[in-house]
Amino acid sequence: MVANSEKLKAETKGLSFYYGNVQALKDIRLPLTEKEVTALIGPSGCGKTTLLRCFNRMHDLYPHNKYEGEITIFPDNINIVDRGIDPLDIRMRIGMVFQKPNPFPKSIYENIAFGLRVRGVRKKTILDEQIEKSLTRAALWEETKDRLQESAFNLSGGQQQRLCIARALATGPEMLLFDEPTSALDPIATSKIEDLIVGLKEEVTMLIVTHNMQQAARISDWTGFMMLGELIEFDKTDKIFTNPAKKLTESYITGRFG
Ligand SMILES: Nc1ncnc2c1ncn2[C@@H]1O[C@H](COP(=O)(O)OP(=O)(O)O)[C@@H](O)[C@H]1O
Ligand SMILES: [Mg+2]
Repeated sequence: MVANSEKLKAETKGLSFYYGNVQALKDIRLPLTEKEVTALIGPSGCGKTTLLRCFNRMHDLYPHNKYEGEITIFPDNINIVDRGIDPLDIRMRIGMVFQKPNPFPKSIYENIAFGLRVRGVRKKTILDEQIEKSLTRAALWEETKDRLQESAFNLSGGQQQRLCIARALATGPEMLLFDEPTSALDPIATSKIEDLIVGLKEEVTMLIVTHNMQQAARISDWTGFMMLGELIEFDKTDKIFTNPAKKLTESYITGRFG
């Protein structure tokens, strides 16, 4: 488990979640180590997406959804699923990248400028500078610097996904959430996104849902294995994939069910 020397960016404690009467998460305790990648794996329907979405209060959009327990973020020590916390504030601090790239129907430039303007950035020189910086961090600058005014839809799927990552990075989030970010991409585009995620460890804490166990093994430091709404096992990625403590984890990673 997490050693005392590891610095935590966030931790869920006793986290349960309900879609109306259906309990989708059961008493989850998951620590997220700062500036490292934590992966969530497990069979389809086990609650990976549900857990990820708790971290930026996506579930608040539907009135019958209910959180129990806490997700504390550090160093401020605030519980982000507390009703008193504004989900919009949380979404500024914790960005999300979805399964299918979802750029806005705007230019490449405007996709990134949008969030900056919402934060009150008005000066063109500052916008230009921040846009270059975000595209560079998302390994997309060289491919787009001469076509910033073109529609984002002219980009390939992999480029669109990197644009979504640049957009999420532009406003300086502390954490990034990824829900199967490469499942719609070919192997080359996938490996670019994986390299990008590994490189981003210098600046942000990341939580990634993947149905691809090789991907979890390649890019994550920590792995949580989920089943039926429970976090069955959580440990260093190497340990989970070479010497898991639980029989269920072993059965899953050796492909005996899934
Ligand atoms: N909007 C919803 N309303 C009701 N049940 C849902 C909703 N979304 C997901 N579920 C249920 O919650 C469980 C977990 O789903 P999900 O988090 O999407 O799993 P995963 O991402 O691991 O495939 C499943 O049983 C699923 O059917
Ligand atoms: Mg899912």
